Amino acid sequence: MSDPHSYWIATPGTALHGELSVPGDKSISHRAVMFAALADGSSRIDGFLEGEDTRATARIFEQLGVRIEIPSGSTRIVHGVGVDGLKAPQQALDCGNAGTGMRLLAGLLAAQSFDSTLTGDASLSKRPMRRVTGPLAQMGARIDTGDDGTPPLHIHGGQALTGIDYALPVASAQVKSALLLAGLYAEGETSVLEPHPTRDYTERMLRAFGVAIDFSPGQARLRGGQRLRATDVVVPADFSSAAFFLVAASIIPGSQLLLRQVGLNPRRTGLLAALKLMGADISTSNHAQQGGEEVADLHVRYAPLHGAVIPEALVPDMIDEFPALFVAAAAATGQTVISGAAELRVKESDRLAAMATGLRSLGIQVDEVADGATIHGGVIGPGSIQAHGDHRIAMAFAIAGQLATGPVRVNDVANVATSFPGFDSLARGCGFALQAGQ
Ligand code: S3P
Repeated sequence: MSDPHSYWIATPGTALHGELSVPGDKSISHRAVMFAALADGSSRIDGFLEGEDTRATARIFEQLGVRIEIPSGSTRIVHGVGVDGLKAPQQALDCGNAGTGMRLLAGLLAAQSFDSTLTGDASLSKRPMRRVTGPLAQMGARIDTGDDGTPPLHIHGGQALTGIDYALPVASAQVKSALLLAGLYAEGETSVLEPHPTRDYTERMLRAFGVAIDFSPGQARLRGGQRLRATDVVVPADFSSAAFFLVAASIIPGSQLLLRQVGLNPRRTGLLAALKLMGADISTSNHAQQGGEEVADLHVRYAPLHGAVIPEALVPDMIDEFPALFVAAAAATGQTVISGAAELRVKESDRLAAMATGLRSLGIQVDEVADGATIHGGVIGPGSIQAHGDHRIAMAFAIAGQLATGPVRVNDVANVATSFPGFDSLARGCGFALQAGQ
């Protein structure tokens, strides 16, 4: 839960060294619980992210009548109830900080026979939901939002849904996934076309659960009326969590890190291409398949970075990595130009504003525009910045502090536990100087 009193003091640490395993992928963990809950039979999930976001999703399925066992940390046994087996919840369903949880559940719950309400924390309660309730309404769903299209979502059950062909105005895996989940219950076919391909975990995982689904980059299509068959899921390590260490080791002189068996779905790894454009030294080894996803060890060594123009085509493939990229750009020589990234304004915080304001207060020149920013590399100074309860802003500034000429206080960091519980101790273990306070 966001706690404005929680903070870190980040100070220059040592060069980073060691071998790390980062926790399981957030996007895949959410979907694994959801699809296992809807399946016929029991599924085992290994590598489940023990983060607040994904645990909130698991708790919601328990409220919907699904039994979930925890034989050990990061493992779940989900006893699926079938697509028609969810039960009406007694209370509102709290998605916490998770946009993925709320948007995917909106699609699923719109198709149920019962009413339900989805709520979220202060950050999620400000995020736009019309992008998902709009097309769901076209399918026949009835969902009430706040006047400005924000949560809570009051979902009226018992509606007969019809499949639609929908061209997404913005690239969003969450919206695509919500429509596919509703489409499982709709009459006829539901097809989704994206302006740029986004992460395809829903499509891949539905197929693994036995659903007939056609998909290729940028489009997906399925017929309603299908059932899911239980299957075991192995969740790879989250590239977005590894990203903070890739940037940190790239910019802290003398660093060398190995990140073990990280998920390398091409729709997630845009940051690798961006950092390489800036001169980073990152290589891969031990390529393998884990749960239908490519994984590999990532080796990163310090290298002097230079600014670059980030191609707009890379933006969807690195949509969660901009806070880390801003810090790489601040440490680089010259200018880094980001454009085509207006979506960053509606993430867990307005990430363009949060990063621009925070870096400026540490002495870095940042010119912010509506859909991006130009960051002028320079000397990072001491200061106090706000993470706005956004996990990725907090972790980005923990890295900035390692290079700063004096202490950087990062306020409101408790939400790091939504995606990366234990980040600070893992970071300290490889050389970060990072003290937590309350
Ligand atoms: C996610 C999709 C992305 C991403 C989010 C997780 C998902 O959001 O930013 O962290 O799991 O589908 P959008 O679909 O809004 O781009």
